[in-house]
Formats: sequence, structure tokens, C-alpha cells
Amino acid sequence: MKLVIQPDAERAARLTAALIAKALREKPQLVLGLATGRTMESVYKNLVRMHREEGLDFSLCRTFNLDEYIGLPPDHPGSYRYYMNHHLFNHINIDKRNTFLPDGMAEDIPSSCLCYEERMEACGGVDIQLLGIGADGHIGFNEPLSALGSRTRDVSLDPSTLAVNGTLFKNPEEMPRRAITMGVGTILDAKETLLLVTGAAKAGILAKAVEGPVTSMISASALQFHPHCRTIVDEEAAAKLEGQAYYRWMFENEPEWAEYRGK
Ligand code: GLP
Repeated sequence: MKLVIQPDAERAARLTAALIAKALREKPQLVLGLATGRTMESVYKNLVRMHREEGLDFSLCRTFNLDEYIGLPPDHPGSYRYYMNHHLFNHINIDKRNTFLPDGMAEDIPSSCLCYEERMEACGGVDIQLLGIGADGHIGFNEPLSALGSRTRDVSLDPSTLAVNGTLFKNPEEMPRRAITMGVGTILDAKETLLLVTGAAKAGILAKAVEGPVTSMISASALQFHPHCRTIVDEEAAAKLEGQAYYRWMFENEPEWAEYRGK
């Protein structure tokens, strides 16, 4: 894993968006794995800005989201389809037919999960998977004890997730108790993974996930197995990392980061 510390949340989001934009310019048919949550809003703002100001072209891009609530129609403001349209898809030149989320309204959930995996595979697999981390260390909705080899499936949400994400619903009682998520194994199949973590509230879980032992109790720790994982954090989230000095040294010295330094 490569970990980069940026001065603040906005700079961390800007760097994350710049890495995605670079990949998209290199491969216009990029298969992009997307995430939701508050942290991602500024990444999407930056991508929208790059589309408007720099002509960043999404016309051939295909996207697969990590997860979706079960039982919320796409036009429900709490659904992740609504979130994606609102924060990104409505503002860029992507063909919405090329944007995929798990189907939280499917009658046969196991077979719709299988179809989701098959569709990803038919597109050649995810090139870059964008990830955030939940307060309990989840990636997607892979709650504690999610098998490290798990695939797309339906899960029960942890009460701590209900408490944190419930605040995003007008009426927190409306938040579904279950969701469909790519599995940890599905996420690890992406060619690259890009984890963005910001804010003091995530400092403890970030340190456990990236510097602690790999455990299914913290599904983000499985990213330690990923051969091409970049983690972008802000100073607040980095506060509890033991290896801070080395991570800073790498950012200042590795040629890979030269074009992003001082921006
Ligand atoms: C939800 C999503 C996760 C996301 C997490 C963090 O639980 N399923 O994919 O990483 O929220 O969200 P936030 O950025 O709001 O802290």
C-alpha cells in the first residue's frame, strides 16, 4: 500500500479526483468502481469541475457502485442511485446506461448479485475502485466478519452503521436495515484500489485498517493484500498513524508523486 498525507480534506479529495482523471485520460473506456458517503462528495465536485473546465470526458466510461440499500427505489433521496445522479452522473457526459449499481429492488437478490458480478467481468473487471471507510472499518457495506473472499451479496447493516448513515435520511427510521454490497473479494479483484479517508473521527479506524493486523473484523484491512492500493488521507485522519514520517518522505521523494507535489 502507498499512503499519502495531504494538508486537508479538500486537498485529499482533489488528489483523489486527479488520480481518477489521469486514469480516465489514459483509458477513455475506464471501468470505474464508485463509492458513496460524505467523503466522496468533494471528489465528485472536483470531477464535475474537471469535466466542465478541462473537458474531462466520461462518454466511454463505465461505472460500478459498491453498494445499494435494499428496498429503496432509485428516485428515493436516500438511495445510492439518487446520490450518484445528484452528485456526479447528472453533471458529466456519461451515458447513464453505462452506470451500474446493485439492484436493491430485485425480487431475486442472489441472482441479481450474480448478474452484477458477471456484468463487471464482461466489462473486463474494474480498473480503479474508489473506496471510503465506515466508522466500523467497512469498505462497501462489508460489516465486521465479512469473509475476506466474499462476493456481491445482501447483508445486514451493523447498528453503528445505522446510527451514522441514518442521519443522512430525512426520517432516520426510513433507512433500510439491509443492503447489497460488493464483497471484499470482489473489491480485491479491482486492478487498482483508491481509498480516501478524511477527518479526525476516522483516525483510529484508519490506523487499525492500514497498520494493524488483517482481520475480517475490519474489512478495509484486507486492502493490505491488494498489490496496487493507494490510500489518500488528510492530516486529521493521519494523526494516529505510526509510519507518518516514512509516508511523508515517500510522497516527497517517489517519482510517482512528482506531478502532484505542491498542488
Ligand atoms: C457508507 C458506504 C461506504 C462509505 C461509508 C463512509 O457506509 N457504504 O462505502 O465508505 O459510508 O461514509 P462517509 O464518507 O460519509 O463517512
